[in-house]
Amino acid sequence: MEDLNVFSGRSISVVNDLSLDEQIYLYEKTRELKDEIQNGNGGDRFKINDPDLSIYLLFFENSTRTKESFRNAAKFHNSRVNDFNVAGSSFNKKESITDTIRMLFGYSRRSMFIVRSGLEGVCRSLESSIGNYAEKIGMPHPSFINAGDGRHEHPTQEFLDEFSFLEQKNWNRDSFHIALVGDLFHGRTVHSKADGLKIFKDVRVDLVAPEELAMPPYYEEKMKANGFCVKKYSSIDEYLAQKDVARTWYFTRLQLERMGDKVREKAGELRKMVAFSENYLPELKTKTKFFHPLPRHKIYPTVPSFLDSTDLNGWDLQSMNGYFTRIMEIGLLSGHIGGDFKGRSVATPEFPDDFVKEADIKVKVKHDYKVGIKPVDNGIVIDHIGKGKDIERVWDHINKIRRLMKLNSISSHGVYSSEGSKSYKGIISLPKIQSFDERQIKMLGAIAPGCTLNIIKERKIFKKYRLHIPPRIYNFDEISCKNENCISYPDHYQNVEPEFTRLESSTFVCKYCEKPHNFHEIWDK
Ligand code: NCD
Repeated sequence: MEDLNVFSGRSISVVNDLSLDEQIYLYEKTRELKDEIQNGNGGDRFKINDPDLSIYLLFFENSTRTKESFRNAAKFHNSRVNDFNVAGSSFNKKESITDTIRMLFGYSRRSMFIVRSGLEGVCRSLESSIGNYAEKIGMPHPSFINAGDGRHEHPTQEFLDEFSFLEQKNWNRDSFHIALVGDLFHGRTVHSKADGLKIFKDVRVDLVAPEELAMPPYYEEKMKANGFCVKKYSSIDEYLAQKDVARTWYFTRLQLERMGDKVREKAGELRKMVAFSENYLPELKTKTKFFHPLPRHKIYPTVPSFLDSTDLNGWDLQSMNGYFTRIMEIGLLSGHIGGDFKGRSVATPEFPDDFVKEADIKVKVKHDYKVGIKPVDNGIVIDHIGKGKDIERVWDHINKIRRLMKLNSISSHGVYSSEGSKSYKGIISLPKIQSFDERQIKMLGAIAPGCTLNIIKERKIFKKYRLHIPPRIYNFDEISCKNENCISYPDHYQNVEPEFTRLESSTFVCKYCEKPHNFHEIWDK
C-alpha cells in the first residue's frame, strides 16, 4: 500500500525543507507518539509496517546517536533496514555517490536514504539527480535525509533539539532566550538553529565563542534576518559578567577534525573560553538547563561530567528525543503519517526571468559616439558596463565579458567617463555580431549586471535592453562553487552541475552547500 500526502517522497536537506507549520506538526505528532510509547501503548498506529520500504543508512562520517536512533526508528516501523558499509564499498574504487545510490534505489519499490557526509549539500544533489532518474523509470521519488553534511547543517538534530526546548518551555512558543556556546564556526547543529528557532516568536540568541570559533557571518545574518536579537560574547567569563544570562544553554564540542592546523594548535586555549566549570555555578539563574548534541570529549568536555546528576542536565533527555523525532520523520516522508496535516507546506521557489528589461530608446542615432569607438552600422554595443565602479573594476568586467563569453571577433572596447560625471563605465562594440541568444544574455547579466545591450540596425538603435542581476545562475561551464567541501566542487568529481541563487542582496548562495559568493567569485578565473 502506498500512502500519499504532502510529505511523501520529500527530502530533508536543511531545516527549511519543512515549512514552519510542518515543523510544528512534526513536534506535535512526536509528542503524541512519545506519550503513547512511554505510557506503554507502543505507538502502533504510527508504524509504517511495510517490509518493502528500504531504509539505507549511509554514514561517511562517524556517528553514534544519529545513526543508532535512525536505525532503531527504522526498526520501529518494521521496514527493511540496510546499514551500508561505506568503508568496504566501491567508493574506494572511486565510484560517485550518485552511481551507488542509483543502484541501491533499484532494489526496492520504495526507498529512503539517510546520509551523513563531509560533502556539503549531498542530499540536495541526490534529491534532484535520483529524483530525475526515478521519474524517468516511473518509480516513486526516494527521500533523502541529511544526517549532517560537513559544516553545513544537521536538520534532524535541529528537530530533536527544538522538540527538547519545547518540552523545557512546556510548549509555550511565545519567546525563547538561548546561549549557543562552543565551536559555532564548525558546528553544523548550531548553524541549523538559524532557521530551527523560528518556531518561537520572540527569539534572543547569545553567541558565546572566541573569534576563531565564531558563528559564520552567513548564519549570524540569517538569524538577524529572521528577526532574532543576536548578541556576541567571546567567552563564558565575559558572558557571565553581564546580567542578561539565558536559562537555556546549548553547548557544542570543539570540532577538531574540521579545524585547520592554525586553529587546532590553539584548541586548548580556546576550549577554556567555552568550557563550563564549577566556579560558574553560582552565576546561573534558577531553572537553567544545559543541552548538548553530544558526543563530548572524555578528557576535555565543554559540559563536565560532574553536572550529569544535577538539574542542569537536559542533554540526556534531549538525546533520547532523537529516537522519537526520527520515527516521526521517517513516518512523514514515507507518507504514512501526515494525512491530517492542515497547515501551509513549503513553496516551490520561482525564478522569474524578468531581469532583462526592454528600455526606452531616447536617442536613436548616436553621431558622435565615444572617442576611440566608431559608431557601428549593424551589430551590438554593450554599454554602461560596471557604471559607477572604480576604473579597475570596470576593466575587470570588460575582461570577464570578453573572456567568458568568448567574444573573439572584430570589435573595440574601452573605459570612459560616464555622461559628463566623474564616474566610469565600459563599452564593448561588436560590429560583426548581430544578436545574442537567451543564454548569452543571461551570462551577460550575470557577469555585468546593470549594463545595457543595444542592437544596432542601419546605424540606429533598434532595441535596447537593461540587464539586471538574474535570480539564478546555472548551466554555465565557467562557474563553480568555491567551497572545497561542497558536493559540486569540481575536484570531487561527483558530476554535480553548479547552481547559484541570489539572495535579496547581491549575494549568491550555492544551491547545495549554501556558501555565499559575490558574482566575481562564481566565475572561474
Ligand atoms: C553532532 C554532529 O555530528 O554534528 N553530533 C550528533 O549528531 N549528535 C555534533 C558533534 O559531532 O559535535
